[in-house]
Amino acid sequence: MAAKIIDGKLFAEGLRGRIAGHVARLKSEHGITPGLAVVIVGHDPGSQVYVAQKAKQTVEVGMHSEKYELPETVSEAEVLALVEKLNADPAIHGILVQLPVPKHIDSLKIIQTISPDKDVDCFTPASVGKLVIGLPGPVSCTPLGCLMLLRDQLGSLSGLDAVIIGRSNLVGKPMAQLLLADSCTVTMAHSRTKNLAEVVRRADIVVAAVGRPKMIQGDWIKPGATVIDVGINRIDAPERGEGKTRLVGDVDYAAAAEVAGAITPVPGGVGPMTIACLLANTITTASLINGLVPPSDLTA
Ligand code: GUN
Repeated sequence: MAAKIIDGKLFAEGLRGRIAGHVARLKSEHGITPGLAVVIVGHDPGSQVYVAQKAKQTVEVGMHSEKYELPETVSEAEVLALVEKLNADPAIHGILVQLPVPKHIDSLKIIQTISPDKDVDCFTPASVGKLVIGLPGPVSCTPLGCLMLLRDQLGSLSGLDAVIIGRSNLVGKPMAQLLLADSCTVTMAHSRTKNLAEVVRRADIVVAAVGRPKMIQGDWIKPGATVIDVGINRIDAPERGEGKTRLVGDVDYAAAAEVAGAITPVPGGVGPMTIACLLANTITTASLINGLVPPSDLTA
C-alpha cells in the first residue's frame, strides 16, 4: 500500500497562522512586538536565499525583523560586537547568525556570545542543556518541526521504537532528546553503524538526517513505519536536460513510499517546517524574556 504523504508545506502554513495569532495577542495584551535579527556574513547564494525567506516570513506573521548583511571580509571582532549590540537591544528577542560563516571567523565563539535568552537556534550550551533536562526555552528548529509532524501523524509517540540516522548537533542529537522526552525508545545510528538495514527495520519511526542522497533503502523500512526525511541533497538530473539538477532526501523516496505508513517528501516535507519553527522559537523567547509562559502549541 502506498504511504500517506506528509505535507510539511501545508502544516507549516497552519503553524504560521497560529504564530500570527500569538504575535497579535502579545501586541494587544502585553504591548510586545516579537523581534528577530538575522545576521549573514558573505555571499553564499544558498544562505542568501534562506535568510531572505526567514526575513520575509518574520514580517508576514507580524513580527519585527532586522537583517544584517556583513561583507565576507568582516572581522570576527565586528561580528561579536554586533551580536553584543543585539543582545542588549530590547526590541530584539531572537538572534540568528546564519552558518556557515567564513573560515577566519570562529563559529563556536559567535554562538557562545549569543545571549541564551535570545538563542532561537538553540545552539548555545545553555539552551542545549535546558533542552536535555526539559526546561522551557527554544528548541532546535528542524527537530521541533519533525516532532510536530510526528505528533500530528501518530498522536502519542509513547513506547514507539525510533531510529535517527545522523548524529549532528543541528539535527540528530536534539532529535534524540525530543523523542526520548516523548517516551520513544531511541536508537542513534550514523554512517558507521553496523547492520544499518537491520537497525532501521526495527523502527516505528525513522528520522533520516545523514546527508547522503537516497542512502536509506525502501526494503529497510518496517511496513507501516513513519519516515521523516531531513536530507536535502542536490543531484544531477540528466533526465530533465543537460546540466539540470534536482533535490532528493536521504531516503529512497519512491521505494520507501511503497512500504511506509507515512513519509515526508523532499522538497515539501521537513524543509518548510524549519523556518516556521524559528518563528515559533521567537514567540517562546519573547514570552520568556517578558516573564510570560510560552504558548504550549509552539514548544516541545
Ligand atoms: N545554516 C543552515 N541551517 C541553519 C540553521 O538552522 N541555523 C543557522 N543559524 N544557520 C543555518
